[in-house]
Formats: sequence, structure tokens, C-alpha cells
Amino acid sequence: MADARIAVHTEATIDRIAPEVHGHFAEHLGRCIYGGIWHSDSAEEEGLREDTVSLLDDLDLPVLRWPGGCFADDYHWEDGVGPREERPRRRNLFWAQGPEETPEESNAFGTDEFLALCERIGTEPYLAANVGSGDPQEATDWVEYCNYDGDTELADRRRQNGHDEPYGVTYWGLGNENWGCGGRMTPEQYAREYRRFATYVGTTDNLLLDHDLELIACGYEGHEWNRRFLEEVSGAPWGQAFPLDHLTLHHYYGRTMTVSEADERQYDEFLAEALEMEHHIERMAAAIDAVATTRDIGVIVDEWGSWHPEATAESGLEQPGTVLDGLSAAAVLDVFNDHSDVVTMTNIAQTVNVLQCLVETDENDAWARPTYRVFDLYAPHKGNDAVRTSVSAPTRDTGDDDLELIRGSASITEGETYITVTNLDCIDEHTVEIEIEGDTPDEADVSGKVLFAEQAPDLAVTADNADEFVATELTVSITDGTLTAELPPSTVAAISIR
Ligand code: AHR
Repeated sequence: MADARIAVHTEATIDRIAPEVHGHFAEHLGRCIYGGIWHSDSAEEEGLREDTVSLLDDLDLPVLRWPGGCFADDYHWEDGVGPREERPRRRNLFWAQGPEETPEESNAFGTDEFLALCERIGTEPYLAANVGSGDPQEATDWVEYCNYDGDTELADRRRQNGHDEPYGVTYWGLGNENWGCGGRMTPEQYAREYRRFATYVGTTDNLLLDHDLELIACGYEGHEWNRRFLEEVSGAPWGQAFPLDHLTLHHYYGRTMTVSEADERQYDEFLAEALEMEHHIERMAAAIDAVATTRDIGVIVDEWGSWHPEATAESGLEQPGTVLDGLSAAAVLDVFNDHSDVVTMTNIAQTVNVLQCLVETDENDAWARPTYRVFDLYAPHKGNDAVRTSVSAPTRDTGDDDLELIRGSASITEGETYITVTNLDCIDEHTVEIEIEGDTPDEADVSGKVLFAEQAPDLAVTADNADEFVATELTVSITDGTLTAELPPSTVAAISIR
């Protein structure tokens, strides 16, 4: 007997799901770059890690944000270009990194190495320029180095460094967490800085490039800050006449919960906290609508994911990769689908070894985490039109909120409906009925997959068990056109109807 129902309203299109919603973030922090993506920063062992690159390539990352995070506002890009042996070694103000865990930056992995990685795996780069300790000239020069095709010293320098053609980098972030590690600015102060940077960087767009840039401003989870930023940034004598294409938000969850020590009640609280994403997106979109009335500004969530107590500066922000984290990623990706009319990009933190990474490495191997499997399962949504769903499901009181135990989202493209459903209940199985408005599918048209059916929520991935987290077949029965599937506790399912 079904206890949860999902109606898929195939005619109620929300918007296209931007592929960039499945984006990623890599910072010079812990073993993300050195040891994770790049072998190490010693001249004896440099170069991309082929095992990591191959896993990232298979996942078809649409966009990768770099070099930070807090590190971005301490980074001077010119240190990281040119012959590697001549690059200066600098302190890293925020993080110890690499296998040696030193708070230093060798600059072995810089702009050309990052952009070569992006070209290799077919990913759009998103560069975060230094606003906190940098200046507009430095940011503008970076754009020119990467994107200009003319006869200037910076364009020539890129050619000498091995890249004849401009890279055509579209996404430029102006600062990171400028309310915090990026300069502890008030919203008014950041708005003035943003306008200054955007004026210079944006002018390269008008005069030098045959390529449109998309400029990204930093926002905050405290929504009053966003409203004040938007008011100040739009309120100058020039009104809104400068580039601002997206406003960002960071949402981490799970800071007080060590998964291996937690009980089911804490799992519920953790998942409810992950789902606060919905509230933040809606608040940010409302501030944009209310203040920036003549503009089309997208919401980017350029850092998100679990952050557990194990992830400390001393541990290089490393934490185990569990089923529960995978479950939270699925629930959040469903939220992004449901808000595809405002969400233009997201970047889970961080790609390799750090926080809710997708890939974990040791000296010899690289392997996929449960969260990687979720991104893989959700990949068919990318570029589809999201449609509205109505979910009716049991809930559980988490103290502050009710956790809806079954969540889901749906999208359509050329004759296919793709539905993802999560059973956020870590205790009980639920039977879910799905009705596709206007369609009575046959069994032959329907296929299903499920993740984590055999695994406990606190199970962590290792090099040895990584293959056990792959999706298995989900049985979907059909009666009078209604689909029914049984979802074991803490599972993520996908159903395709052709
Ligand atoms: O992702 C780790 C850190 O979290 C980033 O450097 C910063 O932007 C955020 O606070």
C-alpha cells in the first residue's frame, strides 16, 4: 500500500535546468589541488593526476570554480603563470595544503594549468578574482591575459606560456565571502568595491573581447545583507548601468553532526538543514526582484554541501564520504530543479578530498564517493525543462521543522520524462506512487535505478568498497498508468519514461 504520492505536472514547465547547476568548486586548500588534482607541488612529481581527471571527465562537469574560496582574495594570479621554476612561493593565509600540510602556496598550479584541466575535461572555467586584497587593475589584467586576442604584453605573455588562442573564460567572480574572509565588508562597502571592479572588468567586455563575460557578485545567507548590497549597488548616479549577472550564496550544513556518532533524529535534523537551501534561494530571488527591478540577475550557489566536525583546518577540511551526505546532495539537487527559473549555477564544495567532495584520493588511487554517484544519477536532468511536481508524503517533526520524508523533482526533454525521488527516511521503507499527468506509460517505456539500497546511512566510502555504491535496478510496476516503486530507507531513485 503506497504511503507517498508524486504527481508530475508535465505541462507546468518551470524553466530549463541550466547544466551549470551541476557545477563544482576547487580551492587551494588541503589536498584538493596538490595531492588531489595535481600530483604535488614538487618539481619531481608534477602534472595532473590521471586517475582523478578520468573520474571527473566521466562525470561531464559543466563548470568548475577556482581558485577559492577564501584563498581567492589572497591570490595574485601573476604569481602562478610563466615557467614553474621561476614562480614565487607565497604564504597561503587561510589554509595548509598539499601532502606536506604547509600554509604555503608554491604556485605550481596556476591559471594555465587550471584552464588546461578545464579544456581537457570539457568544463567551463569560473575564475574568482581577488577583491579583498587585490585591485581592479589586477582583475582586469587577468581577464586580458585569459581572453584577449590582440597585440598587448598580456596577450603575448599567454601565447609565450603556451596558449595561442584566447581561453574565452565567461564566468568571473568579483570576490568571495566579502562579508567575511574576503575583507569583512559591510554590504555598502562591498557594493562600492563591486561597482569599481565591474566597471573596469566590464569595460574589457565592451572594447576588447568578442566574448560576453558574466560577472558574479558575492552575496550572503543573511538576506538583509543582500538587500542592502543590491540597494547600494543600484543606487549610484549611474543607476544599474554596470555589469552584474549573478549574485551568489553559500550554504553549508551539518557542522555539529559527526555522522558516525549520530542517531536517526540527528540525521533528520541534518537533512532538514540541507533543505534550508530552498528558503535561501527564495529569499535571495525575492531581494533581486524587489530591488534590482530592471535586471535579470541569476542566483548562484557557488559553495554548498555538508561540513561535519571532522572537517577542520588541521584536517585539511577532510571528512568521510557517507551515504547520508549523498542523500543530502540528492535532496538539494531536487530543490535546484524546482527553482530552475532563478538558479543559474551551483558549485558543490569541493571537487577532490575536501568537504563533500566527489572524488577521494590516496597516494595510489582515486575513487568515487556516494555524492559522485548522485551527480551521475541526476545527470540526465541537465539541460531538460524542469516541471512542477506535487508530493504528498509522511513527515517527521525535527524540532524546528517537519521533514518531508519523500522528496523529488522531474524534468522533460524530447519524449522523455526523468524523475528523481529520495527517501529521506533513514528508518523505514516507503512505497511511492507516481502519476504522470497526460501520460499512461507502458512497462516497456519505464526504467528505474536506485542508489544505496544495501547501505546504512553512516557507511563511508573507502578505496576498497567504492564500487559497491553504484546504482542498481529499481523495480517499477505500473497499474492503470500509475507507477509504483518501493524505496528502501535512505535511498535515491531515478525513473525514466520514454
Ligand atoms: O570551502 C571552504 C571555505 O568555506 C571557503 O574557502 C570559504 O569561501 C567558505 O567559508
